Amino acid sequence: MNPVTILAIESSCDETSCAISREAVILSNIIAGQSVHEQYGGVVPELASRAHMQHIVPVVDAALRKAGLELSSITAIAFTQSPGLIGSLLVGSQFAKSLALALDLPLLAVHHMQAHVLANLIEPAGKDPSSAAVGTTAAHAIPRFPFLCLTVSGGHTQIVVCKSPLSLEVIGETLDDAAGEAFDKSAKLLGLPYPGGPLIDRYAAQGDPARFSFPEPRIPGLDFSFSGLKTAILYFLQEQVANDPAFIEKNLADICASIQSRIISILLHKFEKAARQTGIKDLCIAGGVSANSGLRKAFRDMGERQGWNTFIPPFEYCTDNAAMIAIAGHYKYLAGDFAELSVSASARAEW
Ligand code: KG4
Ligand code: ZN
Repeated sequence: MNPVTILAIESSCDETSCAISREAVILSNIIAGQSVHEQYGGVVPELASRAHMQHIVPVVDAALRKAGLELSSITAIAFTQSPGLIGSLLVGSQFAKSLALALDLPLLAVHHMQAHVLANLIEPAGKDPSSAAVGTTAAHAIPRFPFLCLTVSGGHTQIVVCKSPLSLEVIGETLDDAAGEAFDKSAKLLGLPYPGGPLIDRYAAQGDPARFSFPEPRIPGLDFSFSGLKTAILYFLQEQVANDPAFIEKNLADICASIQSRIISILLHKFEKAARQTGIKDLCIAGGVSANSGLRKAFRDMGERQGWNTFIPPFEYCTDNAAMIAIAGHYKYLAGDFAELSVSASARAEW
């Protein structure tokens, strides 16, 4: 039998990406970002879809070349069907459908958030030491089922039980802002450009996380809330800047470290609670915010303290990428879970 070779396309927000996988091993993962949004302080949907249209052909071409394959070697086409910006999703989904039609290949419609979780099933390349499994008993590189995943991105914050690649259940989620939004909106209050998450991470590395104290919300169960934190930061900054207009500039590293430390503690307290409630000992993180160095370290420390196995995808599979769509597509292919050519992209999606 020919090896299962998936060509996957991701275009849900502001990254155009194409990846090729063969038997669940990633051969290439090309990502084109969009700097055009920086000046607007957030993603402008219309500009995002136009940039996807410019990038999609070169990105697919580069992915094939890097993998050393022709289109004739592809077994199936996977694409992000939902959720995301509808104009952005449409570019990737129309392109994927056209390829499937032209090449007479099966089509695999992937849920972006499920793909973030399944990024943990990509075997680490071995080059990123922080991506290797750490824990008292982990001798393997990818988690065993069932595993728990804390998915933290710009639009979602979820705790997911993953029983198999096709059986995922959300057991906790944010009631308002996502963790990535908490980072980005805090950064905006500090006058930092979009997306502010990586910048807060960078400044926080030089700051004192105990210098300023921000509140942790009391939300029952396994759900999260970040809107109160945002308001607390806003009032805190307004008060301090009224006394000293240079307050932010003088204290940027300590403010970033204090904000980051609170976001991390909100996330990990709930994740720890979920692990205790479910008794699951293989824990993963995923999504753009899992690129945060403070979260990666605190998550590792929690695993070591509790004797749990912790898994973090390599950096390139944390933020939006098509490799995770390829892995999700691979398992859908094995299960025969194909989409019709009439399938439409959807901005919101039921799990
Ligand atoms: O998963 P992702 O690339 O896109 C969505 O599906 O939303 O996540 C993007 C989010 C943004 O909010 C960005 O600020 C955040 O991930 N992010 C980070 C870091 N890198 C990306 N947040 C904190 N620290 C980082 N190093
Ligand atoms: Zn994402």
